[in-house]
Amino acid sequence: MKKRILTGDRPTGKLHIGHYFGSLKKRVEMQNSGDYEMYILIADVQALTDNFNNPEKVRNNVRELMMDYLSCGIDPKKTTIYIQSMIPETAELTVYYSNLVTIARLQRNPTVKTEIAQKKDLFGESVTYGFLGYPVSQAADITTFQGELVPAGEDQEPLIEQCREIVRKFNSIYGEVFKEPQIVLSEGKRIKGLDGNEKMGKSLGNAIYLSDSEEEITKKVMSAVTDPNRIKKDDLGNPDVCMVYYYHKLFSVNDEVQNICKECKAGERGCVACKKQLTKNIIEYLRPIKEKRAYYEEHPEIVDEILKEGTEKARIVAKDTMKKVKKAMKLDYFD
Ligand code: TRP
Repeated sequence: MKKRILTGDRPTGKLHIGHYFGSLKKRVEMQNSGDYEMYILIADVQALTDNFNNPEKVRNNVRELMMDYLSCGIDPKKTTIYIQSMIPETAELTVYYSNLVTIARLQRNPTVKTEIAQKKDLFGESVTYGFLGYPVSQAADITTFQGELVPAGEDQEPLIEQCREIVRKFNSIYGEVFKEPQIVLSEGKRIKGLDGNEKMGKSLGNAIYLSDSEEEITKKVMSAVTDPNRIKKDDLGNPDVCMVYYYHKLFSVNDEVQNICKECKAGERGCVACKKQLTKNIIEYLRPIKEKRAYYEEHPEIVDEILKEGTEKARIVAKDTMKKVKKAMKLDYFD
């Protein structure tokens, strides 16, 4: 039997090249290998845990995220994409799981801890029950679909570990219903921002989006941080501290990258020319993705239909799992 993959994202913004190299590319490869059965959830319930005061934003980004998936090569014929809030079984399982996890354990979860610290503006001194508990809901996301593999970034590791703990506890009390899922870390490292920041992110204003126009890409690349010690073209450059070189390694062919490195070090290549070349290569690289996205932007009804079909398919699997859960928990009253 094919191993089942469960993964997903919060619909809180459009995807950028950090998401693409960090996780999307890997998901598309796994999908196309034909070795797995893949489910991708659009985690709108989880997005609400820190956007409960902004339902409009979550709603609008469900379709944006869906269009990003489709344009990057997630194929609805091979992969089931669904909306989290449309699967009530997951919410139900979250309630049962909430008995199996302590508040102290949630407070110790490193990912949750970091996020709470970042969200002081929203939460003030005391975090909501829903946000603190989102790892429980994420454990339910994965196990509702009996997910065995979860392709995700390093930041998701503590969440998967917590899911494994919940599964062990559930199985030990109610009987073997679930398998412990495993994270599949994306080989792609975390992509740095245009400003050299370790992380590319919307709130940091240093991201190139898959949906950016040619003008936006040009403007952003022109603003990218280069070797600060290189003032004139014939100053000898250090490509290792230059973000333009860093992105050339992602978007340009090998020979070109080596040339750039050599010429920069020798003071033979100016930063402006180097940025222009990078702009061109990024635009070329993203062209097929952008073309597909344009198609879906013009046909929102197709996007909605794919989501509806995926969600209906997912619901069947979720109902089946819930039946097993209820039987194990002695909650199978009337059938
Ligand atoms: N936590 C993920 C994020 O921050 C989204 C997510 C929700 C998820 N449920 C999941 C990821 C289940 C993998 C598996 O984007």
